Amino acid sequence: MADGLDLYGEHGIDPSLDLFDEIERLKRARNAIILAHYYQEPDIQDIADYVGDSLGLSRQAAETDCDVIVFAGVHFMAETAKILNPDKTVVLPDLLAGCSLADACPPDRFQAFIDAHPGHKVVSYINCSAAVKAMSDVICTSSNAADVVRLFPADQPLIFAPDRNLGAYVQRETGREMVLWQGTCQVHEIFSEKKLMQLKVQHPDAAVIAHPECEPHILRHAEHIGSTSSLLGYVKDSDKREFIVLTEAGILHQMQKSAPDKTLIAGPPEGNCACNECPHMRRNTLEKLYLALRDLKPAIEVPEHIRVAALKPLARMLAKDLAAA
Ligand code: 13P
Ligand code: SF4
Repeated sequence: MADGLDLYGEHGIDPSLDLFDEIERLKRARNAIILAHYYQEPDIQDIADYVGDSLGLSRQAAETDCDVIVFAGVHFMAETAKILNPDKTVVLPDLLAGCSLADACPPDRFQAFIDAHPGHKVVSYINCSAAVKAMSDVICTSSNAADVVRLFPADQPLIFAPDRNLGAYVQRETGREMVLWQGTCQVHEIFSEKKLMQLKVQHPDAAVIAHPECEPHILRHAEHIGSTSSLLGYVKDSDKREFIVLTEAGILHQMQKSAPDKTLIAGPPEGNCACNECPHMRRNTLEKLYLALRDLKPAIEVPEHIRVAALKPLARMLAKDLAAA
């Protein structure tokens, strides 16, 4: 782990420090808030001021009065926080923490796609770059995608990007045909239907729950489909005792904390890999988070013309969401 060892080199971390104590101390000194996604490693979730899904994290970013936001998530999430807070410092522990969905939708190709579909409004999943947000009419997350699509009159042609699986799920939920950009999440497309069937035989009473980024042949076996927050709520409130959880395995930490007496089984990936862990999310570590807070870098910057254009569809989503609350 050259990466990890380097962090303790010259100007790096003093190995005698208690990182949990130091992070708390720096947080107060910097007037900082730590926002973490459910897919972060357990230590990061435990030290965060708020742990949530993409919608909850965006709301927190929109409402905080702290001077510094440490975003323990991936690049598009920190970028969203910066779009909402141009005057605050937003740091991401590892600048290379990307997302296969955001990467699958380069702005130049997306502009050509929009141009090829005149008259269409553009609904973009928050898992995209600021430049793609800037080309969109409204942003959605997995918590509100169907409701956001229903904002448009039934005869309004729509483009949905960049996740084709979430898009197909929203089509089934709303009965709306949409033109789908063909992106996928590398974590959620890896689940094995055959192994899921075997697990169901071994655990006949387990509830199968899934994130809508999963492929349709996986989703058809789920009794509950929803965002990470929704899956967490389902485990907490359900009468069932066992759950097969088809999303990134990091969420199991909060699930087990909020329902310690329930049995959680991580959804089985193809092969013997740990590919139900997002390699981008997992680039962040407690050490890198400490350094980001100490050095206030790597900081996220968004060119002002893109930020202003991206803010509009984002604010539309947040306003809709507040009106519904
Ligand atoms: P939510 O937490 O909003 O459901 O998103 C899942 C995800 O894949 C984030 O990258
Ligand atoms: Fe992107 Fe999938 Fe990782 Fe979420 S889990 S950050 S959608 S690659």
